[in-house]
Order: sequence, then structure tokens, then C-alpha cells
Amino acid sequence: MFSTQIADGVQLEPLEVWQAPAFAAHLDRARDHIRPWVGPAFVTDTVEGARATLRRYADAAAADGARIYGLWDRGVLVGGVMFVTFDPGWGICEIGCWLEPGAEGRGLVTRSVAALLDWAFLTRGMSRAEWRCRTDNERSVAVAHRLGMRLDGVLRSSWVYDGRRYDKQVFSLLRDEWPTPSRRG
Ligand SMILES: CC(C)(COP(=O)(O)OP(=O)(O)OC[C@H]1O[C@@H](n2cnc3c(N)ncnc32)[C@H](O)[C@@H]1OP(=O)(O)O)[C@@H](O)C(=O)NCCC(=O)NCCS
Repeated sequence: MFSTQIADGVQLEPLEVWQAPAFAAHLDRARDHIRPWVGPAFVTDTVEGARATLRRYADAAAADGARIYGLWDRGVLVGGVMFVTFDPGWGICEIGCWLEPGAEGRGLVTRSVAALLDWAFLTRGMSRAEWRCRTDNERSVAVAHRLGMRLDGVLRSSWVYDGRRYDKQVFSLLRDEWPTPSRRG
């Protein structure tokens, strides 16, 4: 099976329908932490809900669309990254991410998103990768900056959480702006 080592003891692997119980258990640890920042459909409360999310991604991946990958720290799911959208016809994808609190601060997401960018740009020949987040999501904005993404603009009042409206930022990276592995420091 496909598996990439992201850090000592941490593997990035496709997250599949059969792993719904582990995904649900992980969401129990992550739910409160991620709820303000990710789409409501992602934050399920049951194994069935977690399975439905993974099923949506599996169906999309079968059509060469969205995909989801889990980060496993010594066998425990601690977060992941995804192609929220993946459109080879247009050459455009959007990447997203999440972590449970104990997995933050170790560079796991920055390195995982770099792996997705490698695949999107270098293997699949995509032209543009997007990153969308609430303007006040400082940790997500920091990931975008760390990867060299540029701010395209602000989608005003486009995110609703807990009865309030928030601005979202759209960052992007183009294939020519992404260093090939040999040019990386
Ligand atoms: C967004 C989110 C995934 C970012 O997590 P994160 O841990 O800050 O990001 P990374 O895993 O890339 O780690 C970066 C941190 O590790 C440090 N780090 C250590 N080794 C590193 C390495 N090799 N490479 C990069 N960073 C490294 C960085 O300095 C940074 O630490 P700092 O925050 O103290 O500056 C996380 O905050 C989260 O899940 N938030 C809730 C859900 C969410 O917002 N999802 C995104 C919606 S748009």
C-alpha cells in the first residue's frame, strides 16, 4: 500500500472507508479543536458519519477528484490532509488539512501538504493549487506562507460559524513557483 514517511514514526497514507472506526475515534479527540475552521459536514459524531465522509472521498477519488490522506503517528490517526477538490481538466486543486491538538507544532501538515503539492504538480501536471481558510485562522495562514503560497484575495463574509460571519482568504501556488525536489533547501 502507498505510504510516505513524514517524520520519525509518522506515516501519510490514503484514508479509506474501512478505517472509519479509527477516524471516528480521532474525531472525538479533534472535534472541538477543528470545528470553527473546517466545513460542518466533516465534523461528524458517529462511526456512521465518519464512514459517510470517507465514502464521499472514495467515490470522488474513483472519478479522479477529491482525495483524503491520514497521518498516523505510531499507528494512531492524528490528522490528515486532503484534496478538497481536484480537477485535472482545469489543472486546479484545493488542499485542506486538520490535526488533533496533540499533533500540532511538529511540521506534520506542512510536510504532508508539500507531498501533495509534489504529486499534484510533478506527477499530475496540475497548474494551480489553492488554500482557503478563515482570515483569523493564524496557524492555517502560517502553513500557506511556509509553503510559499501567495494571497489571491479575501472572500468577504463567506464563512459562517456559530451564528457569526467571517472573511475567508484564498491563497494559491502555481506549478512554476513550486521548487522541484532537487532545488529544495
Ligand atoms: C491548521 C493546522 C493543521 C496547523 O497545524 P500546525 O501544527 O501549526 O502546522 P504544522 O503541522 O505544519 O506545524 C508547524 C509548526 O511546527 C513547527 N515545525 C517543526 N518542525 C517543522 C518542519 N520540519 N517543517 C515545518 N514546521 C515545523 C513550526 O515551526 C510550527 O510551529 P509554531 O506553530 O510553533 O510556529 C492546525 O492548527 C489545525 O488542525 N487547526 C484546526 C483545523 C484547521 O484550521 N484546519 C485548516 C482549515 S483551513
